[in-house]
Amino acid sequence: MLLTKRDIQLAALASASVLTVSVWSLQFQTPPGLLLSSGVIFLILLITILGCYRGLIRAIRFYSEKEFAVDHKRLEELILLTSAVTPAVPFPPMRGFAISPDFGNILAREIMHRKPRLVVELGSGVSTLISAYCLRRLGAGRIVSLEHDANYARASRESVAAHGLQDLVTVRHAPLVPVPLNGRRWTYYDPACFQDLSNIDLLVVDGPPASVQEMARFPALPLFFEKLSPGAVILVDDASRPDESEMLRLWQERYPQLSIQRIATEKGTALLSFQAA
Ligand SMILES: C[S@@+](CC[C@H](N)C(=O)[O-])C[C@H]1O[C@@H](n2cnc3c(N)ncnc32)[C@H](O)[C@@H]1O
Repeated sequence: MLLTKRDIQLAALASASVLTVSVWSLQFQTPPGLLLSSGVIFLILLITILGCYRGLIRAIRFYSEKEFAVDHKRLEELILLTSAVTPAVPFPPMRGFAISPDFGNILAREIMHRKPRLVVELGSGVSTLISAYCLRRLGAGRIVSLEHDANYARASRESVAAHGLQDLVTVRHAPLVPVPLNGRRWTYYDPACFQDLSNIDLLVVDGPPASVQEMARFPALPLFFEKLSPGAVILVDDASRPDESEMLRLWQERYPQLSIQRIATEKGTALLSFQAA
């Protein structure tokens, strides 16, 4: 804990003293009286600040170091990413809903290493662009990106075109519909929008958004498992969230032939691959 019990006691004592002096000072209507009471209040506050000084410095140092470490890591990952992938126009911001730069680097590394012929992505965005740039460098492969939001699908298509990657990418609008699975009714990408896909070498799980339902992304593996190629890998973003941790635990139980490697990234990453026989 950053504030010690002593800091809190001191702050409480100071507040009580300021209150008492303020009430006491109400009786002084003359300038010297008001000056005296203001001086007393100032003195109490000064003593309190000095008393809490160590705690304040500790708190400032803790938060600034933590923030600095995160910014430094993001910057480093962004530099690494743009040395692996050179975008024709700037990438969209890699914050909020988008993947973080460290996930982008893992995605780029896996694509350059495994040379997938078919990448299927759940949730379009900057990850679509990174994957396409890697496939362009490799000179083979294509991406199908499923997007539940029609407006976002349009924006993603525009972004893909702005980067000149439309020959490698298909952004499919796949609305969320009720999907029965394991005795539960899920809300998931319409299976009719991906029934034609097979031999998927890389499945990127980054949608639908968590707000859709509890364990929103669980149906991905049950619905795509039969569509994976024999050496396929699955990349899961946001793996440190409680829902995704539970999803990965259930997937592991259900598909023991898959091994899960957890990678410590800003939002948590899991890389699933088939264990060697
Ligand atoms: C985690 S995001 C997918 C991010 C994507 N893989 C990327 O790298 O940018 C999952 C879904 O959230 C939606 N989304 C993206 N940005 C959003 C925003 N700023 N506000 C609300 N929804 C958003 C999109 O429909 C997207 O498919």
